Amino acid sequence: MADLHVECFDMINPFVIASSPATRGADNVVKSSKCHPGAITMRNFGHGMGGGGFFYPSAEAALKGQPAFHSHAVGRQCPDTLSSLDEYCEEVRRARRDMYPETKLWASVGHYHDIEKYPDWKDRWKREAREVVSAGADAIELHFNTPGVATASDRQFNYYQLIRICTEMIKKEVPNTPVMVKLAIEDCDCLTSIREAVAAGADAVGPTARWKAFYFDLDWKTTQPRPGAGYGGTQANPLVCFEIADARTRGIDIPIYAGGGVFSYDQALRYIMAGAEMVQLGAIACSGGIMQCERIIRQCSEWMDKNGYPDMKSLKGAALQLFNMSGDFAKKRQNRLGDAYRTTDVIQDKCIGCGRCEDVCWYKGIALEGKKAHKTDACIGCGYCFQVCPTKALNVEAGRILKEAFEDLS
Ligand SMILES: Cc1cc2nc3c(=O)[nH]c(=O)nc-3n(C[C@H](O)[C@H](O)[C@H](O)COP(=O)(O)O)c2cc1C
Ligand code: SF4
Ligand code: SF4
Repeated sequence: MADLHVECFDMINPFVIASSPATRGADNVVKSSKCHPGAITMRNFGHGMGGGGFFYPSAEAALKGQPAFHSHAVGRQCPDTLSSLDEYCEEVRRARRDMYPETKLWASVGHYHDIEKYPDWKDRWKREAREVVSAGADAIELHFNTPGVATASDRQFNYYQLIRICTEMIKKEVPNTPVMVKLAIEDCDCLTSIREAVAAGADAVGPTARWKAFYFDLDWKTTQPRPGAGYGGTQANPLVCFEIADARTRGIDIPIYAGGGVFSYDQALRYIMAGAEMVQLGAIACSGGIMQCERIIRQCSEWMDKNGYPDMKSLKGAALQLFNMSGDFAKKRQNRLGDAYRTTDVIQDKCIGCGRCEDVCWYKGIALEGKKAHKTDACIGCGYCFQVCPTKALNVEAGRILKEAFEDLS
């Protein structure tokens, strides 16, 4: 069995469950720990409600990793039952006592809105940090992502300055406890925020995609989710992969716990192959349940076994070679595929004469004669027609060609 151990924080696997209501209070943390994740972030206190669940087009699509979005701004919101630091610390103590012992407990400190609400917010955050650590938290998480920051009515600080000031302050307060800094990828330059967190002494950074959005039905009064912050979805996966790989390529070497849009095992694997050490499970936990988290952990391990990745070290950053192709290499590789598109003609038996290829060709590279399509000498090998042919009368093995090109050219 693949070894999922994450060395940097001695975690049994790379999964960090982080979303209310799945991480609200000790009872739910204990319940979530039953799927044996590497860590759980207990939701902070005193910041109102959060956490319904809506999928479009369906939960089924999301759980298969297909395009789907999620909004937590729907249904009756899970009430925030903890209103003081003492209560929160008591929940941290109780969770630590009763949860799966090998799962780490991260405690959430501070909230962007504190800055607007409390003139003494810095002292409050420092006290929170000290006390959650005494209560048994294994790490502290500061969050500068949606929904908190995105809904802020007045960004009194420059976002990047805020990250620097808060991280430095908390790191100084609890120097022996890992400080994880969760960051937005929307409305900001993610690499700049990562750099600020690193410069301030963060132990890990968590680029996380949830964003402000406005979905509505055409019959708009029937729309379930409300507009605003807190949308997520599988389509975030390539965006977050880019931010991870970009950070790795530009010399960021502290641990990354990436989040946003993980609803199936392949999306989790991609974050690690792009260069992250850990993966957050947010909406999948609260809207999918603990069984779904368990499934993702199990399927990642099975996939690693099947594909020859014995441990997290061998998987981490495996796709960076693709990300870091030189321009010249990328061009030669693309041309291999282009050549295949250009030289592959229509399989006559399979052509039904629908004309979709001709319709999408902008080079007069294919023509219908009677009820059959034929390539012409004008084809440049762009590949459009291959994407739309409904019968595979136009077909190349793109995956094999690109893989062989990589092996030949490397
Ligand atoms: C219902 C719900 C409530 C959330 N509440 C918080 C929160 O209170 N604080 C926070 O830092 N992040 C919160 N998040 C963000 C998650 O912690 C996590 O970073 C994010 O959901 C990961 O993206 P995903 O939901 O697409 O997996 C919440 C997410 C969801 C789905
Ligand atoms: S799209 Fe495919 S099936 Fe349709 S005409 Fe072109 S080659 Fe034939
Ligand atoms: S590969 Fe491009 S240029 Fe060639 S026939 Fe198809 S659409 Fe036209």
